[in-house]
Amino acid sequence: MIWQTHPDYAALSEAAAQILLEAIGRNPRIVLGLPTGRTPVGMYERVVSTCAREYTCFRDVVTFNLDEYDGIPREHRGSYYTFMRRTLFDATDIDPRNAHIPDGMAPDLDAECARYEREIAAAGGLDLTFLGLGSNGHIAFNEPGTPFDSRTRVVALTESTRAANAPFFPDGNVPAHAITMGIGTILDSREIVLLATGESKRAAIDRLRTGETSTDFPASALWTHKNVQVLVA
Ligand code: GLP
Repeated sequence: MIWQTHPDYAALSEAAAQILLEAIGRNPRIVLGLPTGRTPVGMYERVVSTCAREYTCFRDVVTFNLDEYDGIPREHRGSYYTFMRRTLFDATDIDPRNAHIPDGMAPDLDAECARYEREIAAAGGLDLTFLGLGSNGHIAFNEPGTPFDSRTRVVALTESTRAANAPFFPDGNVPAHAITMGIGTILDSREIVLLATGESKRAAIDRLRTGETSTDFPASALWTHKNVQVLVA
C-alpha cells in the first residue's frame, strides 16, 4: 500500500485527477470503478476541466459505479445516478451505454446485482477503482462485518451512514438499503486508489494505517491487495 499525504484537499484532488487522466492516457478503453460522495468531487472537477480542453478523454472509457440507493428513482436529486450525471457524465464525452450504475429501482434487485457482476466481467473486469472512505471504515456501502469475498448485493445501511448521507435527502426519507459492489468485487480491480480527507475521517485513516486487517473495518481489506494507493489530506 502506497500512502500519499497531501497538504490540503485541492492537492489531493489534483493528484487523484492526474492518476485518473494518466490511466486513460495509457489505456483509452480503461474500465474504471467510480465513487460518489463529497470526497471525489474535486477530482471530478479537475478531470472535467482537463477533458473539456481535450474532449476525447472518455470516448471509449467504460465506468462502473460502486453503489446506488435502493428505491430512489434515477431522477431523484439524491440518487447516485443524478450525482454522476451532474458531476462527470454530462460534462464529458462518455458514451452513456458505457457508464454503468446499479439500478436501485429494478423489480428484482438480486437479479440486478447478478447482472451488474456479469457486466463487469463482460467488460474484462475493473482496471482502476477509486474509493472514498466512510467514517466507520466502509468502502462503497460495505459496512463493518462485511466478508472480504462479498460480491455485488443489496445491503442495509447503518444509522451512521444514513445520518452522513441525510443532507442529500432533505425530505427526511433517507434510504435504508442500497446496492453495492462487494469487497471481493472491489479487490478484483487491478488497481485501487482510496481518497480520504477531513476530520471526520481521521480515526478511520489512523486505523487503516495500523495495517490490522479485520472485517470489523472494511477498508482494511485493501491491505490484502497488491496495488493500492491511499491519498490523504
Ligand atoms: C457513501 C458512499 C461511499 C463513500 C462514503 C463517503 O456512503 N456510498 O462510497 O465513500 O459515503 O462519502 P464522503 O466522501 O461524502 O465522505
